[in-house]
Amino acid sequence: MAQTLDFLVTGATGQLGTLVLQQLKAAAPKASIGALVRRPEAAAELESQGFTVRVASYDDPAALESALAGVAKVLLISSSEVGKRAAQHGNVIAAAEKAGVDFLAYTSILRADASPLTVLPAEHLATEKALAASGLTYALLRNGWYTENQVMGVGTALEHGALIGAAGDGRFSPAARADYAAAAVAVLTGETPERGTVYELAGDESYTLAEFAAAITELAGKPVSYVDMSQADYAAALEGAGLPAPVAGMLADSDAGAAKGGLYSEDRTLSTLIGRPTTPWRETLKAGL
Ligand SMILES: NC(=O)c1ccc[n+]([C@@H]2O[C@H](COP(=O)([O-])OP(=O)(O)OC[C@H]3O[C@@H](n4cnc5c(N)ncnc54)[C@H](OP(=O)(O)O)[C@@H]3O)[C@@H](O)[C@H]2O)c1
Repeated sequence: MAQTLDFLVTGATGQLGTLVLQQLKAAAPKASIGALVRRPEAAAELESQGFTVRVASYDDPAALESALAGVAKVLLISSSEVGKRAAQHGNVIAAAEKAGVDFLAYTSILRADASPLTVLPAEHLATEKALAASGLTYALLRNGWYTENQVMGVGTALEHGALIGAAGDGRFSPAARADYAAAAVAVLTGETPERGTVYELAGDESYTLAEFAAAITELAGKPVSYVDMSQADYAAALEGAGLPAPVAGMLADSDAGAAKGGLYSEDRTLSTLIGRPTTPWRETLKAGL
C-alpha cells in the first residue's frame, strides 16, 4: 500500500508547480506533500526539500494510477504539451478516480466555456467536461493570463523599439504565477469546495498592449511603441522570428481573443481568495527587465 499523502501537485518541476510546492509547504508545514514528476532525475532535488516524489508521465495511465494511490487532494496543473493535453488530463482524471482521491483542483483558463479565444480553451474545456463526467469532487481554477507571458517578449521589443501584437485596444488582466499559485494553495488547504466550484482568476489591474509598451519605455528608459497587426500578419511575424507555426498561431489567436475582451476580467475572486491584492503587472515587468 502506497504511503498516504495529504497533497499531490502535478507539473511539480514546472514554474507554477515549483511556486505551489513552496507556498504549500509554508501554508501546511505538517502536511505530507507529494510532487508528481515525469523525469526520475528531477526527484533528488525535490526529495531534499522534503517532498515525496512520485514518477509518472501524463501519457502513462498505469504509472499515474500508482502515483495517485493514497493521495487525498490533487492539484492537476495543466500539461504544457498543447495538442496532447485533453488525453493526458483524461488519464490523470481516470487515475484519480480509480485511486479514490478525495478532491482534485484543475488549472483551466479564464472563462473556458465562453472564451473568444479559439485555440487554448479547447483542451481545457475538454478536461472540464471529463471532470464533470467523472465521479470526482473537483474545482476549476480558471487561471487568466500570466504577466510573465507578456514580459517574456520585452527583450525583443526593446531591441526593435516596437512591441508587436494583434490585440488592438483589448485589455489584459494578468496576474503573476505566484498569485495563481497562492490561489491553488488556498483552495487545497481550505475547506473542500462543493463539487464543480469554478474560480475565475485574474489580476486586479489591466493594460492594453499600448499601455504595456508605454510602461516598458518608462521603466527601461528606451522608447518602445505598440504596433498593432492583423492576426494573420502577427502569426507570420512570430513564425518569421523562429516560432513553430502552431505556437505562433496560438499566440496570435490569444491576442485576437484578447481584442474581444477574452483576457480581461473585473472579477476580484483571485485577490479575495489570496487575501491580498494581486501582484501589480508593472512590478513583474520591472523585475523582468
Ligand atoms: N495562463 C497562462 O497564461 C499560461 C501560460 C503558460 C502556461 N500555462 C499553462 O499552465 C501550466 C503550468 O505553467 P508553467 O509555467 O508552470 O509551465 P511549465 O514551466 O512549462 O511546466 C509544465 C510542467 O508540466 C510537466 N509536464 C509536461 N508534460 C508532461 C507529461 N507528459 N507528464 C507529466 N508532466 C508533464 C513539465 O514537466 P517537465 O519538467 O518534465 O517538462 C512541467 O513540470 C502549463 O503547462 C500550461 O498548461 C498557462
